[in-house]
Amino acid sequence: ELCKGINGLEKVVLREVRGFSAEVYLYGGHVTSWKNEHGEELLFVSSKANFKPPKPIRGGIPICFSQFSNLGSLEQHGFARNRLWSVDTDPPPFPTTSSNKAFIDLILKPTEEDMKIWPHSYEFRLRVTLGPGGDLMLTSRVRNTNTDGKPFSFTFAYHTYFSVSDISEVRVEGLETLDYLDNLQNRERFTEQGDAITFESEVDKIYLSTPTKIAILDHEKKRTFVIRKDGLPDAVVWNPWDKKAKAMADFGDDEYKYMLCVEAAAIEKPITLKPGEEWKGRQELSAVPSSYCSGQ
Ligand code: BG6
Repeated sequence: ELCKGINGLEKVVLREVRGFSAEVYLYGGHVTSWKNEHGEELLFVSSKANFKPPKPIRGGIPICFSQFSNLGSLEQHGFARNRLWSVDTDPPPFPTTSSNKAFIDLILKPTEEDMKIWPHSYEFRLRVTLGPGGDLMLTSRVRNTNTDGKPFSFTFAYHTYFSVSDISEVRVEGLETLDYLDNLQNRERFTEQGDAITFESEVDKIYLSTPTKIAILDHEKKRTFVIRKDGLPDAVVWNPWDKKAKAMADFGDDEYKYMLCVEAAAIEKPITLKPGEEWKGRQELSAVPSSYCSGQ
């Protein structure tokens, strides 16, 4: 089941009967590929991505835990994306996917070194499932296993990089009229005006308390991505545009045209767990030909 990926890092390949596939690296518990039945890649991974610890992988679905962005004392986006996860040989039962074999269970627990930067004991279980029909589902379960009686709080995001044909032709639906914090303006709070969201410059916004369904319409590819989320009230929308792209060593200068991050997240209200408590956060992605979506 495990095989060697780039730079000898271990990965798991999931396959679905219709021909969809997905790849998950143990490094970061990181989904790096999701392909449809025609072999087309649906996630964006930079041609300059480092598959080299301790750098996180640029693209796919990094897991931001236990901190989103720099909203705390930890490194940017927390530590989960640059830790080596393990295959979870004893996962708890997941009733909804028990008949589906195309899944992998990973687990992350802190090492003694980790406890020095975030002094909490936890079990983070991640199940990645490729559903019948090719939907990609990620379920995260975080349990507080502190024995000192202390609660802990965290913020979280599935930092999904979608592959798009041309960012200036892309629309996002489901976030119009919502409040957001603008990362480009000191996280000040604004209200989105007007219609569906389109892109003509750098965007870095945290939309608050969004609907559970968000759509990314890619007219050129005639494809719509649908994101469904549960336990994750917020949604980050990020595109670095040309200037930031040039400033990132692991991102091609023009690659901003071919990607968009829409991140199911819990940011505004951190999750707090008492010892023994568990939190669950789920995202489900589907990629559908646009013609099937008319009228939605
Ligand atoms: C987004 C943040 O989620 O991630 C941005 O909102 C950030 O502010 C981006 O620039 C990329 O972060 P990183 O650490 O992967 O370069």
